[in-house]
Amino acid sequence: MERILVTGALGLVGSELIIELQKKYGKENVIALDISPQPPTFEGVSVVGNVCDWELLKTIVDRYQVSQIYHLASLLSAGSEKNPDRAWNVNVGGLKNVLDLARDKNLRVFWPSSIAVFGNTTPKKDVPQHSSFEPVTIYGVTKVTGEMLGQYYYHRYGVDFRSLRFPGLNGTKAKPGDGTTEYAIHIFYGLVREKRYTCFLKPDTRLPMMYMDDAVRGTMMLMDAPVENISVRTSYNFSAVSFTPAELVQEIRKISPDFEIIYQPDKRQLIADSWPETIDDSIARNDWHWKESYDLEKMVVALYEGVKERVANEQK
Ligand code: SER
Repeated sequence: MERILVTGALGLVGSELIIELQKKYGKENVIALDISPQPPTFEGVSVVGNVCDWELLKTIVDRYQVSQIYHLASLLSAGSEKNPDRAWNVNVGGLKNVLDLARDKNLRVFWPSSIAVFGNTTPKKDVPQHSSFEPVTIYGVTKVTGEMLGQYYYHRYGVDFRSLRFPGLNGTKAKPGDGTTEYAIHIFYGLVREKRYTCFLKPDTRLPMMYMDDAVRGTMMLMDAPVENISVRTSYNFSAVSFTPAELVQEIRKISPDFEIIYQPDKRQLIADSWPETIDDSIARNDWHWKESYDLEKMVVALYEGVKERVANEQK
């Protein structure tokens, strides 16, 4: 039986992935680690702690006989710019701890990379798997470093390191944070609360995006794929849809015709401008049969319903 440790368990991805992993492996076999405590409603095994704490990680792995780690704890792009030292320590130091444990205890590791590995020298459209990596953010630098480290541990120590370059992920189980792509979630809080939103990106900023259910499903598909199907040991290009704020607003107005949008681009525009518009993920599609199931229209309906429910619960 697999025993799974999920770090960053309260984050945007973690809070949704945990539920699916619990369904698959049983609540007692999924250990949720986060720097903050789980809410009292959480059902399952949870530990509070920091991924930079090697002793803590080792204790958890030994105590629960962990066989796989989904290592999600990380600072995002705009948050990392506010504290580059902390971004390096958490994003790279945390991963190094996990990889060392994986080497010593023979664990399979999932770790998310990002479209932030790309930069201004990367082609904007249909970026191939092997491209130019000159990120302009410290977040992107930590992601390129993590990819190289993961691949090194695979070649050098045989660590079963698996990774996806996540596009902007949009889900509603956790509060959105300070990622650049997360305007696409914040906009729904604006819609539900006051039917208006001030967007920090320009209307024509096209970015690769994905609905969270697809991201969780893809992550579990990759982790379940037979080892011989995994041809990429840095991180797979991984994509679903690409849209601009203006296109998202157009779709939202099908639900709420009088929704108002104001555009006030800030520093995050520079980050977004350095990222590609569309990604070629044909290797993931070939290797382990990746296919998304949410297009923009379906995603907008799901996000609207999810945020409406969250806001209603907050008001209770
Ligand atoms: N969604 C992330 C961000 O905007 C990119 O990986 O920071």
